[in-house]
Amino acid sequence: MSNAIYIILLGAPGAGKGTQAEVLHARFGLTHISSGDLFRENVARQTPLGVLAKSYMDKGELVPDDVTIKMVMERIARPDCARGVVFDGFPRTHAQAQALDAALAQQSKKIGAAVFIQVRDQVLIERLTARWSCPACGAVYNLLTNPPRSAGQCDKDTRALTQREDDKPETVRRRLAVYQQQTAPLIEYYRQTGLLRPVDGEQMIERVTAEVVAIAQAL
Ligand code: AP5
Ligand code: MG
Repeated sequence: MSNAIYIILLGAPGAGKGTQAEVLHARFGLTHISSGDLFRENVARQTPLGVLAKSYMDKGELVPDDVTIKMVMERIARPDCARGVVFDGFPRTHAQAQALDAALAQQSKKIGAAVFIQVRDQVLIERLTARWSCPACGAVYNLLTNPPRSAGQCDKDTRALTQREDDKPETVRRRLAVYQQQTAPLIEYYRQTGLLRPVDGEQMIERVTAEVVAIAQAL
């Protein structure tokens, strides 16, 4: 594995991007940039960006490219990104992918791999409606596949777990449709540049992790 690596985790809502990004962060010290988490932090602080983002997120729509690209470009300019980044949920459109390529090229860097975590829609819907997370530390659980040790409580800090607003079944269905229309074309974009690394995301979390780690180690 070379010094600073830049990895994209590509996949539908619920594919396990956030789960695997945390592993890459812990294992390799990569900075975890989740555009969804950045938006949710702004929503919680009720910033103008948060108010705008919420109006799209609540409907399961993408936040407009200009706003999203500006936010992520500001984030990757920070010093902690020099040691490498795992991108989770960004890019999601061609415009975002091109903006990321251009920004990295300016710093003489480039994407090492776009890991595509593949999961069927039916499994995604089941997973998202069973997801609970800790509002304090962000730890993510799943009532079916990855439950907390004590019901309703975070293993790390015992805070009461909460559900994401956009994990309601009708919003989940819209998010999946938006993914198919606007983000799935990026699979072909990264295939053509030779960066695509498909992974079966329906395996146990630990098996998916082993494949993702092997891809990172080969860079
Ligand atoms: P975002 O926060 O990025 O959500 P998402 O892409 O819809 O993905 P999720 O976070 O729901 O799923 P995940 O793949 O991280 O899965 P997780 O690891 O949690 O975006 C939210 C919204 O913000 C968007 O709808 C949009 O409005 C806006 N937005 C964000 N980025 C944007 C952008 N770039 N452009 C425009 N708008 C943007 O896992 C899910 C569940 O499954 C968990 O319970 C987990 O424990 C479980 N699980 C994980 N892996 C496995 C496994 N292998 N087996 C069994 N269970 C598993
Ligand atoms: Mg996520």
